[in-house]
Amino acid sequence: MLDLTRLQAPIVLAPMAGGFNTPALAAAVADGGGVGSFGFAYSTPEAIDQSLTATKGMTSGPLNANFFVFSDVNEPSADQYQQAEAAISALAPRDLFDVEPPRSPFFPDLAAQIEPVWRHRPAVLTFHFGIPHDSIIQQAHDLDICVGVTATCLSEALAIEAAGADFIVAQGWEAGGHRGCFDPSRPDEALEVRVLTAQLAKAVSLPVVAAGGLMNAADVAQVIAKGACAAQLGTAFLACPEAGTSQSHRRFLLAESGRETAFTWAFSGRPARGIRNRFMQAMEGRPLLPFPLQNTLTGGLRRWAAASGNNEYQSVWAGTGVSALQQVSARKLMERLVKAA
Ligand SMILES: Cc1cc2nc3c(=O)[nH]c(=O)nc-3n(C[C@H](O)[C@H](O)[C@H](O)COP(=O)(O)O)c2cc1C
Repeated sequence: MLDLTRLQAPIVLAPMAGGFNTPALAAAVADGGGVGSFGFAYSTPEAIDQSLTATKGMTSGPLNANFFVFSDVNEPSADQYQQAEAAISALAPRDLFDVEPPRSPFFPDLAAQIEPVWRHRPAVLTFHFGIPHDSIIQQAHDLDICVGVTATCLSEALAIEAAGADFIVAQGWEAGGHRGCFDPSRPDEALEVRVLTAQLAKAVSLPVVAAGGLMNAADVAQVIAKGACAAQLGTAFLACPEAGTSQSHRRFLLAESGRETAFTWAFSGRPARGIRNRFMQAMEGRPLLPFPLQNTLTGGLRRWAAASGNNEYQSVWAGTGVSALQQVSARKLMERLVKAA
């Protein structure tokens, strides 16, 4: 089984659902001595199979397949749906985009999604939003796959350790994308990455991978000094030519990186950090559906915005370090990160 404390380069490419992790990006990070990841949250088994096949053709380095652990959710009432639908419909002329009513099943079946993983056997399997069923951890171990789960606080980390996982991704408050907390309705301790990493490294016997707002070698060195075995970076890789980030999304990230980032629940029904755009502002205090039904409801608006290069109405996930974002190849970025680490 891969030992994350002995990586050639202590860098994990963050899994980033939404097409940002490409075979070229994952391979560049894995070839650079780190772990190349894929965020497969909503991907079909066929797409997962294709991504892993293509990447294995480009690198023999360690790869990570990442999934969301969805929780069961009740069908919204007609009233709830109408209010949430009206909030989205008011954002732009209604003939420009569809508002899709969420239909059961509301999220993909993890057992079906993970099937290609059992065949391809990437070195690492990680989960966000909770701990997968025991049988998944067991099967991964039978196949020599190392299992990690995101924690945002000590109680989640202790639960991950008790479940028999092999490492913890300590996700700090600075992190771009969805906050990996198990239950977003509970109060959030909002721990910064350096504080959380030090706390978990002391209290838990598993290796800790630190994530959130880490952009350069000095940031990586700091979390390693706090007890992390590696750093997981997402935002820092978004402007690499190997990333699947669209041209307009890339331009927006680079041009608007001076804007503040903030958490919003309004794109998906769970808190996620991104560049504060018009959608986030307009949706403050507006009625939402629960996760991931809100994600389906906003899908048409986000697709219209992406197709028309309008980044004010799509999710532009980014961590607090986005102002340091640079257009550099993943290979070069890995060299820079490793040199100082
Ligand atoms: C665009 C984007 C998409 C993300 N999608 C996922 C995901 O699918 N699964 C996951 O575990 N984390 C996801 N994250 C969170 C990352 O794993 C990680 O916590 C975060 O990128 C670290 O903060 P940073 O972006 O400041 O480096 C995403 C982050 C970004 C920026």
